[in-house]
Amino acid sequence: MAVVPQKLIDRQQNYRAFSQVVDVPRGQYWTLEAKKIDSQLTEEGYQATAAGYWYLPREIKEYDTLNGRHFVANYKYKHIVYHYNLIQRFVQPKAVCEIGGGCGHLAGLFAINNDSCVAVIDLPEMIRVAASFLFYLFPKEDKKVLLPNERNGKATTADIEFFLPTQIEELKDRKFDLCINIDSFMEMSTEEVDKYFRFINEHTNIGGHFFCCNREEKDTKFVDYPWDKYGQWEDVYFEKCKHSIHVPFLERMRKKHA
Ligand SMILES: C[S@@+](CC[C@H](N)C(=O)[O-])C[C@H]1O[C@@H](n2cnc3c(N)ncnc32)[C@H](O)[C@@H]1O
Repeated sequence: MAVVPQKLIDRQQNYRAFSQVVDVPRGQYWTLEAKKIDSQLTEEGYQATAAGYWYLPREIKEYDTLNGRHFVANYKYKHIVYHYNLIQRFVQPKAVCEIGGGCGHLAGLFAINNDSCVAVIDLPEMIRVAASFLFYLFPKEDKKVLLPNERNGKATTADIEFFLPTQIEELKDRKFDLCINIDSFMEMSTEEVDKYFRFINEHTNIGGHFFCCNREEKDTKFVDYPWDKYGQWEDVYFEKCKHSIHVPFLERMRKKHA
């Protein structure tokens, strides 16, 4: 029996075609890495192609269920569940912005468990993967997902909305209770990280939060992020990540002041 309706398969395919012709600026790491990322959606479910990396089925070991849907719970998913639970200790947000959302696990968790609206900013290739996963998760569209080629410049609402880095101007009137970056500032250029810190400061409500977990050092260093360049923030949590035991990661939750 088909588990994903044809109209969602068509939407993923339309987006995939769109994503093959858009160009967005990206750092050196993702200029190479993005070429390996792809995903297809079929009526049986989602697949990562051979180039689809380890976000989806490479480490097939365990499964989990969300919204009644069975899927591979690889290391990356567990990393996200750990962070989802950590974030819940500080904030139960209604409006969330995630920068570099990967395959959409965290957006799905917030939409299902917190009834949050989530704006995800990501590269075109990765949004193909996230679209496949989320259409598989919500085949009845009980949570609405909107892709970067589907807004046509019009103001719209959805539970999970995707934006390319070149579309963040479309978020100019939005404010969030929580902004998140997990495992992705570490792979951007210094200029991209700076741009997103300014964006986070401009788009977080007073009293809202910013959660960041990244490697201490990869393409960028955690300590070098422009923590105090934009706005007034206080730390409410700052620790070594307890989930990433092989490579040192830091995790930091900040709260925005007036
Ligand atoms: C290692 S993955 C982490 C994904 C997810 N946060 C997780 O932990 O599973 C890095 C993510 O950052 C995204 N990314 C890289 N450069 C970006 C940019 N300039 N703007 C937005 N997202 C970017 C990648 O496409 C990818 O989704």
